Amino acid sequence: MYYPEDIIRDVRERTDIVGLVSGYVSLQKKGSNYFGCCPFHNEKTPSFSVNTKEQFFYCFGCHKGGNVITFLMEMENLTFPEALKELADRAGVTLPEAELSPEEKRRIEARTRLYDMNREAARFFYYQLAKTPDGVRAREYLEQRGVTETYAKRFGLGYAPIGSASLYRYLSSKGYTTEEMEKARLITVRGNRVYDYFFNRLMFPIFNTAGQTIAFGGRVMGQGEPKYLNSPETEVFNKRRNLYAMQMAKKSRRKEALMVEGYMDVLSLHQAGFDNAVASLGTALTQEQALLIKRYYNDVVLIYDSDKAGTQAARRGIPILEQAGLKVRVLRVPGAKDPDEFLKQNPPEAFQELIDKAMNPIDFEMLVLEEENNTATVDGRVLTVNGMAERLAGIESDLERQIHIQDTAEKLKVDPALLAKKVEEIRRTTGLLERRQNRPRTEEQGPRTDARMQLLGVMMHRQDLIPLLRRHISIEDLKGPDGADDLYAQVADSLFRHQEEGVLVQKADLISLADQPEDQEKIARLVQMRLPDTQENLEKLLTETVRSVKRKALEEKLTRLTAEENATSEDLRTMQDIIYERKSLDTLRIRLRPEGGTVL
Ligand code: CTP
Ligand code: MN
Repeated sequence: MYYPEDIIRDVRERTDIVGLVSGYVSLQKKGSNYFGCCPFHNEKTPSFSVNTKEQFFYCFGCHKGGNVITFLMEMENLTFPEALKELADRAGVTLPEAELSPEEKRRIEARTRLYDMNREAARFFYYQLAKTPDGVRAREYLEQRGVTETYAKRFGLGYAPIGSASLYRYLSSKGYTTEEMEKARLITVRGNRVYDYFFNRLMFPIFNTAGQTIAFGGRVMGQGEPKYLNSPETEVFNKRRNLYAMQMAKKSRRKEALMVEGYMDVLSLHQAGFDNAVASLGTALTQEQALLIKRYYNDVVLIYDSDKAGTQAARRGIPILEQAGLKVRVLRVPGAKDPDEFLKQNPPEAFQELIDKAMNPIDFEMLVLEEENNTATVDGRVLTVNGMAERLAGIESDLERQIHIQDTAEKLKVDPALLAKKVEEIRRTTGLLERRQNRPRTEEQGPRTDARMQLLGVMMHRQDLIPLLRRHISIEDLKGPDGADDLYAQVADSLFRHQEEGVLVQKADLISLADQPEDQEKIARLVQMRLPDTQENLEKLLTETVRSVKRKALEEKLTRLTAEENATSEDLRTMQDIIYERKSLDTLRIRLRPEGGTVL
């Protein structure tokens, strides 16, 4: 890190962590903290927390944690300097330019050139489409598909010509190197030959929400395989984190986002006045994409093709969108394969009606189950009821679950009490299962690690107690198995040193002690630790953890000594001391001064 610590702290402190995180996660206030569904792993019940006092986030499920800078790095796939720059800009802090390391500078410059090169490529394709004789076929194709010139332009559509290296030659003339083009996946190098990645295709540039060109999708005109060819991932193109046309849909004034399957569907919808349509990028909908929608919308209508694959895609997509905190409705396009086709046969108003009538996910599930099972038979009905019970069990809000149970029971003509019982049964068992799966299973688990962690946690949160605790515990005692100088010992060391200098350690700064994500997680857990609520309980906790840590340390020492082949009389005396010390642990009591008074 090449920025002075105080600048980093300044940016950190000027950034409202709740405001930042809310841009990605829907948060709810509970006490002085905020909770929401974790953006870093899939979950139904919120275990992601934002601690406003410590300016820290932490997930109790996956144990990711950190400060505003690490959060932005993770969410936006940024390097440290990029995230810092972004937050500094937002907070109105000017960063000293020269502090970037040469290596970081190079990376940022390289990325900027990647974006520029992609834009240049999009320009090239657009020119081919609009202005060259070769582009005629593409223009005709667009016309045949009903795309107007205005919209072709608005979406930056283009044409990749037949020539095998025309883009390559163009970009070379603009000063881009072969390596750069290969990195952007715009060309393929085979031996000493260079080929354009896309040729003879209608080109759909893909933009990020900032409007930068990050990739392309190319469609064959007419028949051919593959129908769509997409840019592979690059340093600036992460399929999971982007949505087609989001740079436009984010500005729409409509209430809900429309999530569709295809590029052409998006185009047709926008052309019909639905400027809120987006599509995923040739992959199944991801959690990151759901969160991206949530940044701009609270509601989403999931629109899927009316075939089996589309139905399954919708079924998988619903929980992902719901977990992002979006209110989801589902729309199956009647009498047409997809929205594009529908709009060829019907006016925009007809599509608006479909949106207004879009189903809630529970009704959608019922529809799907009834289609899957033959509800004319008893077996089919049982399967449908069971399937619905599973679905209903996933509704977290008690009230909503209750209402849907009632409603579903009526529709399926079964006793609501019976359905409710089934649902609760499922909830009990899966609840247990989930809790079991969530339990952290690290190699270092065990009473000793727990005690070390807890002790460190207390020291972190009550730095005033450090002098008292140091009377009982040394850095030695806090070292890892085999006396390894591990993270916990480092944290303790930092805490001790700062305490000696009379400086309070900022918890959000302790994260910088760790450069590995696992280690950051460990520190995050410490920061997130809750202290006992009464002094009495705190004393108990300290007494127990000090005893446990100390006992374990003494035992290790003892083992080492007994393993000694030819123990000296000195060793024997030490062993006796240890045994005596170990014995005295039984009566050790840690007492704090009344009213939390310090022992400084
Ligand atoms: N797709 C893809 N690769 C393919 C086929 C499809 O990446 N070989 C993606 C594209 O993003 C495409 C979407 O899946 O837009 C939906 O596919 P499909 O329904 O086949 O495409 P449509 O948009 O209906 O294409 P068109 O109307 O142009 O036939
Ligand atoms: Mn289509």
